[in-house]
Amino acid sequence: MDLSFDEIAAQFDDQRGLPSDALREWIALVDSFARKRALRVVEPGIGTGRIALPLAVAGHRVTGVDISAPMLDECARRARELDVAGRMTLLEGDATSLPVDDHSCDLGVMASLLYLVPDWDAVLDELHRVVVPGGVIVHLVERTESGENLRLWDAAWRERIEGAGYRHASLHPTPDEVMTEFRRRWPDTRVQRLASWTFGQSVDEGRHRFGERLRPLYAGVIESEWQRAVDGFLRWSEGAFPDPAIRLDGDVVLEALIART
Ligand SMILES: C[S@@+](CC[C@H](N)C(=O)[O-])C[C@H]1O[C@@H](n2cnc3c(N)ncnc32)[C@H](O)[C@@H]1O
Repeated sequence: MDLSFDEIAAQFDDQRGLPSDALREWIALVDSFARKRALRVVEPGIGTGRIALPLAVAGHRVTGVDISAPMLDECARRARELDVAGRMTLLEGDATSLPVDDHSCDLGVMASLLYLVPDWDAVLDELHRVVVPGGVIVHLVERTESGENLRLWDAAWRERIEGAGYRHASLHPTPDEVMTEFRRRWPDTRVQRLASWTFGQSVDEGRHRFGERLRPLYAGVIESEWQRAVDGFLRWSEGAFPDPAIRLDGDVVLEALIART
């Protein structure tokens, strides 16, 4: 998938932060592997540290690897802000060939990464290499289901941006494909549901700076086509949702796929 996070690093967490209950469950899960020790955690595709920084705050040592220098810069800035920079090692590199020694970590974690990596099963090989035998690998999955209004909203945008020549790639691997691959490698893989919540915004919030917010995700679309798609979509939204307070909501379930190496 051709998507670079360089342009969106500064806003990334504002758009995708986990709610505090979910973070609490995530930290509790990791602490349950730790038995009061500080773990050596590695996260390929760490991004801005959304799921890894809370682990450093909880006392674990984190090595984060990412191909985007701006995402790592943002992660480093947040680590300093949280006063955990001393427990974070941030490395520019590829998840399919981690710049990390064999068996040097107790826990490997990942989230929202595999669909960005064409040879995604190589990421699993790498985690298996760097995690100690008997260590743990966790894949965090957010399963989302849009409500009716959000489905309409997304479909209308999709129709207009595809009219401008953009083609949405289907996301691969699906959570079920990842599960199959985990079970093939680590037969005792189990799934634990950590949290669920509703996400969303009002139509008014959804329209606010709509084009500006989405532009970095559609870098290949030429400006005139882009403007036409955005204007057409906003016009459609005025007709479909005349009341700006209407909600565009959905539900999320956060699950952890947990394997012992
Ligand atoms: C959607 S973000 C997720 C960040 C973080 N894991 C989270 O859940 O918040 C995906 C991150 O993976 C990085 N990435 C994409 N392909 C990568 C690769 N082959 N190796 C390392 N990082 C990669 C991107 O630069 C981006 O920072």
